[in-house]
Parts: sequence; C-alpha cells; structure tokens
Amino acid sequence: MTKAEWTTVLDIGLPVLDEQHKKLIAYFGDLLLAIEAGKGKDVLEELFENLLDYTDYHFAEEKKYMDSIGYPETEAHVEAHRRLRIDVGHFREKLLSGQPFTPEQAVKFLNGWIIEHIMIMDTRIGDFAKNRS
Ligand SMILES: [Fe+2]
Repeated sequence: MTKAEWTTVLDIGLPVLDEQHKKLIAYFGDLLLAIEAGKGKDVLEELFENLLDYTDYHFAEEKKYMDSIGYPETEAHVEAHRRLRIDVGHFREKLLSGQPFTPEQAVKFLNGWIIEHIMIMDTRIGDFAKNRS
C-alpha cells in the first residue's frame, strides 16, 4: 500500500502555508487511493479537479505571501509553480487517457512534483521569513 502523507520534514515554519501543503498532499492522497482502487475515469477526473483547484489556490496564496514579505526570489518561485502546474496537467492527461499507471509511479510523481518543491523551494521562503524578523 502506497501513501501520500505530510510529515514534519515538510514543515517550513509558516503555519498557514504548512496547512495548505497538508491539504494539497491530502488531495493527492485521495487521488492515489482512487488509482489504487482502480476507480473509473469520472471519479479520477473529479479528484483531479479538486487537486488542480486547490493547487491554483495555494500557489496564488503563496505568491501573495512572498509579495507581502518582499521575498527576493519570487519570480523564480512563481516560474517553478507554473512548471509544476503544467506537469500535473500532463500527469492528468496520461492518467485519463487510460495509460497504465501504478500507484508506485503516482507516488514517484508526487515526490518529484510537490514534495521536492516544498522541501527545497518553499523551505527557503520559511528561512527568509524567519531571518527577517
Ligand atoms: Fe511553492
């Protein structure tokens, strides 16, 4: 059984954004469970919609936060979000076109897609916020 779970290593020290990351991972977890259970296209489509809606919301909130603290790497960060958004769109297309996808591959995608981003790029926002106060 594969799982998509938030762990403390993903904590960037900014409670509002941390909560959003938890939700994002939970949405991905729902999708993963549906893939594992072999759910049909309709269910997967709905779960993707939830994930994408929340992704858009979260990225916009993170951008607002970066602007509010004068984060110097906002531009590069927004570009990373743009690429992540494209990647999850491709993942969605692949999955819905009926290409075989194992839960292990989905977890691998999750790790590359958002976990690495949180651990590397979002952590830098947290560090910057900490050091400026
Ligand atoms: Fe981010």
